[in-house]
Amino acid sequence: MNWLDDIHEELHELDDQGLRRRLRTVDLLGGMRAVTDHKDCVLFCTNNYLGLADHPKVLERAQKALLRYGAGAQASRLVSGHTPVHMQLEEITALFKGQEACLAFPTGYMANLAAVSAMVGEEDAVLCDRLNHASLIDASRQSRAKLLIYEHLNLDDLKKQLERAGKYRRRLVVTDALFSMDGDLVPLLKVTNLAHEYDAEVYVDDAHGTGVLGPGGQGITHHFPLKHFPAVVMGTYSKALGSLGGFICGPKMFIEYLLHKARTFIYTTGLPPAVCGASLGALEVLQQEPQRVEKLWDNAKKIRDGLRVLGYDIPRGAGPIMPIIVGENEETVKMSEKLLEEGILVVAIRPPTVPKGTARLRLSVSAAHTDSDIEKLFNAFKKL
Ligand SMILES: Cc1ncc(COP(=O)(O)O)c(C=O)c1O
Repeated sequence: MNWLDDIHEELHELDDQGLRRRLRTVDLLGGMRAVTDHKDCVLFCTNNYLGLADHPKVLERAQKALLRYGAGAQASRLVSGHTPVHMQLEEITALFKGQEACLAFPTGYMANLAAVSAMVGEEDAVLCDRLNHASLIDASRQSRAKLLIYEHLNLDDLKKQLERAGKYRRRLVVTDALFSMDGDLVPLLKVTNLAHEYDAEVYVDDAHGTGVLGPGGQGITHHFPLKHFPAVVMGTYSKALGSLGGFICGPKMFIEYLLHKARTFIYTTGLPPAVCGASLGALEVLQQEPQRVEKLWDNAKKIRDGLRVLGYDIPRGAGPIMPIIVGENEETVKMSEKLLEEGILVVAIRPPTVPKGTARLRLSVSAAHTDSDIEKLFNAFKKL
């Protein structure tokens, strides 16, 4: 058998297990409306939590940067330099997150890969929540530090692992802020206190908290009255801010260190200026219209309450991410297909993105959902 025969067989097996993935073309119509498979639908599957992806100011800022600086960054920022828009974006992001300095990466995934590896190495231990995002798990593995996994949000287990990690040079607790597939929130006050007790640092991935948590959407570190702050806060422009890219915020010295250590920054082309313009526009809108965050939480509450009344079990969490755990892969896919027949696009999330036997519909809410979108969602779920 040649290599493609092997792959063909593997894809067949994925089909048999209900795990085959397919890309879908979605033609966006503005707001949360779209057309897919020739069907009008409302999107309940994006991370566009604040509806900023097509906000006129965001588009205007992107267009201005595009026309002024061209389509691409032309090389690694360390080689060709960067535009004033890149610099401004990092300054504004650091201010927004209440941090000393910031470095923007082409994606959040790349930001995580770089920053964790820069903080710990072979002599250290990295403590990861079992349900951390794949990029954090990959980053922790790549760092070569001893990887200690603790049970999801289980502080007793974290404590045990911190005790185990005592013999290492450094201990780094790495956690999602708002868990992307479960929608629950890390109790960061308790985690930072515990880490402090064991002389460990905390790295928090605020990809889904940025624009969502805390006053004005400043994120997880503003949501809790922290006594001890995470050493580094990672975030993305790609979710609530509707654009693309990841960022690392932290002490100025660490940001400077990243210029020497972050392979996913050094050996790749910088973010396109237009994308930086869009992210700047989104941060500006967020500051001028903080009510978008309130609207998001109102919509999330309305939907969570409404689905519970309809008999759906929405496990933990209070924010915009709602998992409806189905279990079986095929059944989850069928439910998602039925929802689409009713004009609602919610995607089936299956292993390995989530643990085996926990396939789910991952519903995500936006401030841009209208009352009629929400009514349509309830009607679709009523018919399921
Ligand atoms: C928690 C978390 N961290 C990091 C990332 C990666 O961000 P990006 O999509 O910008 O690469 C994601 C995106 O899926 C995420 O959910």
